[in-house]
Amino acid sequence: MDLITNVCEYEAIAKQILPKMVYDYYASGAEDQWTLKENRNAFSRILFRPRILVDVSRIDLTTTVLGFKISMPIMIAPTAMQKMAHPEGEYATARAASAAGTIMTLSSWGTSSVEEVASTGPGIRFFQLYVIKNRNVVTQLVRRAEKAGFKAIALTVDTPLLGRREADIKNRFTLPSHLVLKNFEGLDLGKLDDKTNDSGLATYVASEIDRSLNWKDVKWLQTITSLPILVKGVLTAEDTKMAIEAGAAGIIVSNHGARQLDYVPATIMALEEVVKAAQGKIPVFLDGGIRRGTDVFKALALGASGVFIGRPVLFSLAANGEAGVRKVLQILHDEFELAMALCGCRSLKEITRDHVVTEWDRPR
Ligand code: FNR
Repeated sequence: MDLITNVCEYEAIAKQILPKMVYDYYASGAEDQWTLKENRNAFSRILFRPRILVDVSRIDLTTTVLGFKISMPIMIAPTAMQKMAHPEGEYATARAASAAGTIMTLSSWGTSSVEEVASTGPGIRFFQLYVIKNRNVVTQLVRRAEKAGFKAIALTVDTPLLGRREADIKNRFTLPSHLVLKNFEGLDLGKLDDKTNDSGLATYVASEIDRSLNWKDVKWLQTITSLPILVKGVLTAEDTKMAIEAGAAGIIVSNHGARQLDYVPATIMALEEVVKAAQGKIPVFLDGGIRRGTDVFKALALGASGVFIGRPVLFSLAANGEAGVRKVLQILHDEFELAMALCGCRSLKEITRDHVVTEWDRPR
C-alpha cells in the first residue's frame, strides 16, 4: 500500500479483493458505458496555459463551502452501501474526511445511519437525499440528519428510475444479507429484495422512489428543513435557472458517475454552461471522473467552486479502510497543490479560465 502513487491504482486492488458482484456494482456505468469513459476522457481535452515566475513559496488550498471552511476544494460524494467495501464502511469514510478537514456526503442508502456517522466525532457533513414515496419518512429522515449535525441536503434529482447497469442485472445485484440500509432500518425499507430477476437495486428504486418528484418539491423540502439544499444532477443551463428559482443554495453538476442516462456529456463538458447560467448567484460544484489533482484544477478553472469524488473513495476503502481513504484525499491534495504551483497560482482565487485551453475554445 505504501507504493501507491496515484488514486487509480486502488481500483485494481479493489477488483482483486472484492466479490465480483460488489466490484461490478461500484465500477459500472449505465448501458454502453460511453459516458463512463467520457467522464475521464474529457479531461484530456483540456490543456494548461501555465504562468511562470510567480512566487509560489506559499500556496493556500483552503476554501469555504456554504459558509464552512475546509482544507481543499475536494469533497466526498455520496456513494451507497460502503460496508460492502469494508466492515467500517461509512465510519471509515467519515473519519478520513474529518482528518483531511473536508466534507463527507452520506448517502440515503448508507449501510450506516446519520446518527452512526455523527457518532464518529466532529466533522462537516452533508446528507444526500433520495425522495421516496412516503413523505413522512422523508421528513423524519431530513430532521434526523439535521439533528445529527449534518449541514446541507444534497438532493439527488437524476434518479426517478435506476439506470440500466448491465453487470448488476447479470449479477442479480443485492445487498449482502448481513447489511441493511441503516437510515431506513425498522421502516420495512431497509432491505433489498434478493428474489428479483433484475438488479435488486433497480427493483427497489422502482417500488420506493417517488417518480413524481419535481421542482415544487424543492420548495416543499425548504418547508421541512432550514438546511441549505444542493441540487445534485444538473447538466443544463435551463435546469440551473430553475434550481435558482426554486431556492437551491448550490448546484452539483453530476451525471451520477455515468450510472443513470448514458450518452449525457462528461460533467466537465457540461460545467461551463451551468456556470454561465448560474451567473455567480449560487456556487456550482462538479463530480464525475475526478482522479487527478490536475482534474480538480481544470474544474476550478472552468468555474467550479469545488469537486466531489465517488469511486476513488470506495476502491481505497476496500483496499485499506480509513487509511486508504485518507491516502486518496492526501494524494489528490498534493497533486492539486502541485498543479497550482506549476500553473503559478497561490490561492483558488488565482485560478482563472485563462489557465486552461479546451478543445472547444476557438484558436487564440
Ligand atoms: C454513486 N452515486 C450516488 N449518488 C447519490 O446521489 N446517491 C447515492 O447513493 C449514490 N450511490 C453511488 C454508488 C456508487 C457505487 C457510485 C459509483 C456512485 C453517485 C456519486 O455521488 C457521484 O455522483 C459519482 O460517483 C461521481 O463520479 P466518480 O467520482 O465516481 O467518477
